[in-house]
Amino acid sequence: MGRGRGGEGIILAMYGDGSRERRGGRGRILSVEDMEITTTDLGLAARVQHLTKTYGSGEGAVRALDDVSVGIRRGQFTAIMGASGSGKSTLMHIMAGLDTPTGVRAGIGATEITGLGDLDLTILRRRRVGFIFQAFNLVPTLDALGNILLPFELDGRRPSAIERARIDSLVEILGIGPRLRHRPHQLSGGQQQRVAIARALATAPDLVFADEPTGNLDSASGREVLQLLSTASREQGQSIAMVTHDAVAASYADRVLFLGDGRIVADHPRRTADEIATLMLSGGAPAPATAPAPAAAPVPAAAAVSATAAQPSGALA
Ligand SMILES: Nc1ncnc2c1ncn2[C@@H]1O[C@H](COP(=O)(O)OP(=O)(O)O)[C@@H](O)[C@H]1O
Ligand SMILES: [Mg+2]
Repeated sequence: MGRGRGGEGIILAMYGDGSRERRGGRGRILSVEDMEITTTDLGLAARVQHLTKTYGSGEGAVRALDDVSVGIRRGQFTAIMGASGSGKSTLMHIMAGLDTPTGVRAGIGATEITGLGDLDLTILRRRRVGFIFQAFNLVPTLDALGNILLPFELDGRRPSAIERARIDSLVEILGIGPRLRHRPHQLSGGQQQRVAIARALATAPDLVFADEPTGNLDSASGREVLQLLSTASREQGQSIAMVTHDAVAASYADRVLFLGDGRIVADHPRRTADEIATLMLSGGAPAPATAPAPAAAPVPAAAAVSATAAQPSGALA
């Protein structure tokens, strides 16, 4: 399946005021601007609907994602949790346009579907999406600074004064100033992770995917990174989706999604670290209520609606 067709399962709706458009870039990502019309109303920065992903075939096939419908809300910091192997990385890769879905079940409004060609997707990713990979994915032959500047290099331009100031500030916050001339193999895991974070945030992308960004950091630097991400969404309106196994990390998020066996199993608004730790014990589902519900009480309409919204299908919006 080519990327263009794969796009049928993905709506990568990017937002911006247009001022980020670079010389010569306008025509190229016009299709992205078109999508804004259909997705602004939804307030979503990225969305997949009825997404299925299977690795391999026949007996050895693994269904990594099973009919997942979820949107990442614009300007929100969303945490994605779930057991190892539940499909978190696969979901983020597909939402970021780095991987293609296997199949998409029916039920998607045709007007919402836009397939982007390879080139459009590449340019879109470079300009609008930042990705912090679990395995860092730094270029081994480039030093730390070269890696941080790579998105600009690939875009054929130099950082503007504002962007240079932003990079300086990231380097400062992440404490990698003394390591800028070192190559990845000369850096510890935590230092490589910080370089990867600086690289992902350097262009101030509208949408940032972070796969366990604090997994290799000590708790003090982990907190700094989480502050950085939550400030980015709160003050700069960036949309952030972060996979984490850490209840404290997830407590920085506005919303906590849980995956289980390739499905969205729970969708919670902001929770404290203690609450999240408790939810993790049950795979994301709230503990069963201890008080029995009144037997024949009529259900008020509003309660019925909010009960529905608490179901996994509520993850869509
Ligand atoms: N490239 C791949 N080839 C085969 N199976 C894969 C591949 N990537 C992931 N999987 C499988 O898909 C499932 C979901 O993986 P993943 O998305 O990495 O989960 P998570 O990030 O939640 O740990 C797992 O069963 C995993 O083994
Ligand atoms: Mg993973």
